[in-house]
Amino acid sequence: MFLRHLSLVDFRSYPSAEVELEPGITTFVGLNGQGKTNLVEAVGYVAGLSSHRVSQDAPLVRAGAQQAIIRAAVVRDGREQLVELEINPGRANRARLGRSPLTRPRDVLGTVRTVLFAPEDLALVKGDPSERRRFLDELLIARQPRWAAARSDYDKILKQRNALLKSAMPVLRKGSRRRTDRDPEELERALHTLDVWNGHLAEVGSSLLYARLRLLRDLLPYLAKAYDEVSAGRGAAQATYRSSLHEEVATQIAGGDVPEQDALRQAMHASFEQVREQEVERGVTLVGPHRDDLVLQLGDLPAKGYASHGESWSFALGLRLAAFQLLRSDLGTDPVLVLDDVFAELDAGRRERLAAMVGDAEQVLVTAAVADDVPATLTGRTFHVTLGEVSREPD
Ligand SMILES: Nc1ncnc2c1ncn2[C@@H]1O[C@H](COP(=O)(O)OP(=O)(O)OP(=O)(O)O)[C@@H](O)[C@H]1O
Ligand SMILES: [Mg+2]
Repeated sequence: MFLRHLSLVDFRSYPSAEVELEPGITTFVGLNGQGKTNLVEAVGYVAGLSSHRVSQDAPLVRAGAQQAIIRAAVVRDGREQLVELEINPGRANRARLGRSPLTRPRDVLGTVRTVLFAPEDLALVKGDPSERRRFLDELLIARQPRWAAARSDYDKILKQRNALLKSAMPVLRKGSRRRTDRDPEELERALHTLDVWNGHLAEVGSSLLYARLRLLRDLLPYLAKAYDEVSAGRGAAQATYRSSLHEEVATQIAGGDVPEQDALRQAMHASFEQVREQEVERGVTLVGPHRDDLVLQLGDLPAKGYASHGESWSFALGLRLAAFQLLRSDLGTDPVLVLDDVFAELDAGRRERLAAMVGDAEQVLVTAAVADDVPATLTGRTFHVTLGEVSREPD
């Protein structure tokens, strides 16, 4: 698929912008702070309903304005669709598909698919586990948008279970005065409620975990290949899923197995039993996909803490390129590939190889502060971005 048109109103630094796009390669060039990333951030937002730079919507709206609007015309198999998003910080966002308003903005997911690589992705390698969990879940949703609902259900259930753990702490805690006072009925009730939430969390949690594991299994071959290509064979990129479930199942998963969802659900229940004391002590849920991690390895060493800057960058890039390849093979159409500032940090060989790898994608949007950093083979059409003005360089 490709974007044919992008239109912004009060998005970031843009009072308004209209950009005509074409398939193939388009490069946005401009000095620092002129609005290149803002532009591609809007593209990523239309696809995933979140920014790769901020977790809140407020910074996306131009300072002084009340709302931002992104419109994108996307063409897939010759058929054009118009997506419109209204970003209203502090209030509900709104989405339209064609002329029809959607009940929930979430329903727009899947219309535009992108894979976006940006400097922030270095955090995939160097940052907290939450960064890698987000990578997996976002890819899951890009692949099958219905996971957005499950993902949000999981967060809600988790919140409620944590609230219960906190509120029932005095009753559940072993040796606490309340418990030795023994109000058996109260204890019974608390245990029963906990059981109910265990059931909900294990149900949604095991399906999410199962989906992540299958996703990872599908992704890994592409990751190894992408890293190998970018680095010209200097190191094997690997990733292992680190599960918070009890040891036996966690070991199995770390070994690359994908247990059936039923087994995962049972393992979650068993793990709840094991950590009950600690959970009650601390008032937080210690088992579930929200506690998991993806351990990245380069050769025999963990990437985090060992890989060089350029290697970390290449690893993060490898993850995104793998995501691109996976979606391409799944969807039967190419997602729009966005490369924000990717070239400045790569050595000459890696630049050229990357250019060769992405050259056949249906649409690639590239940003660069220095035009010469972009390999000649990948320059394509050029737009100049100056202070929120986007103008096309004559061919
Ligand atoms: N909500 C907002 N309202 C107004 N201006 C904003 C808003 N958010 C960001 N900006 C401005 O947008 C500019 C940053 O734009 P952007 O990140 O797109 O730059 P860039 O061209 O990608 O630069 P670089 O080459 O450094 O990556 C900054 O000057 C910032 O002040
Ligand atoms: Mg930028």
